[in-house]
Amino acid sequence: MVHPSVRIAPSILSADFAKLGEEIRAIDKAGADWIHVDVMDGHFVPNITIGPAVVKALRPHTAKPFDVHLMISPVDQYLEAFAEAGADIISFHPEAGPHPHRTVQSIKALGKQAGIVLNPATPLSALDYLMGDIDLVLVMSVNPGFGGQSFIKSQLDKIADIRRRIDASGRDIRLEVDGGVDAKTAPQVIAAGADVLVAGTATFKGGPDQYAANIAGLKGQ
Ligand code: DX5
Ligand code: ZN
Repeated sequence: MVHPSVRIAPSILSADFAKLGEEIRAIDKAGADWIHVDVMDGHFVPNITIGPAVVKALRPHTAKPFDVHLMISPVDQYLEAFAEAGADIISFHPEAGPHPHRTVQSIKALGKQAGIVLNPATPLSALDYLMGDIDLVLVMSVNPGFGGQSFIKSQLDKIADIRRRIDASGRDIRLEVDGGVDAKTAPQVIAAGADVLVAGTATFKGGPDQYAANIAGLKGQ
C-alpha cells in the first residue's frame, strides 16, 4: 500500500559524519520530507552527538524542515541556540527537566514547533495538559541513544492509543515514530496511526545511490 501522506524524516545519525552537508543534500534530493537531527549529551542518554554549531552549519544545505530531537538534560537553556541555528521543530523528553510545560512555552515563544518525546516506558499521561500546546508527539520505539537498534513491538499499541488521543483533541498534531523503522516495521507503524517515520539505518543503507529507493520503500512505494 502506498502512503503519500506519510512523511519520512531520515536521521542523520546514520549518515557519514565526515560529509554531513553532502549527505543532507543527497537525502533532500532523494525525497526526505524532514531532516531528523539527534542531539545527545552523554548524560541524558549514553552517547554524544552534535550541538547547535553543527545544526547551523548544515542549515544552508537544504530548505526542508529541521526536526531536532533533543536528548539532553537540562534542556531549557539550549532551546534558543537550537532555534537560532535553524531548527523548525524542537522535541524534548519530559524527563529531561522539572517543567515540561515551561519548556513547551519556551519553544513556542521562539516561534518554533514543539514536540514531546515518549520513551518506551513513558506513559501517555506525560501528555496530560500539554495536548493543547504541542505540535508533535514522538514515540521512541527503541531506547534513545543509538541508531541501528531493534523495534520494540509494544510501542505499536501505544502509537494507536496516541492516535486516538490526537484525533479526539481535534488539533493538528503530528505523530512521529523513531527507532528500528524499516521496510518491515514501517507498514505496522503506519497502520497504528503514525504519520512521520524517522529512519536512520533504513535510509542510509547501501549509500547515496540507494537513498531514493530506501525512502520510497518506507512509504510503501
Ligand atoms: C535514537 C535516535 C534515532 C535513531 C534512529 O536515539 O533518536 O533517531 O537514530 O536510528 P534507526 O533508524 O537506525 O533505528
Ligand atoms: Zn531521534
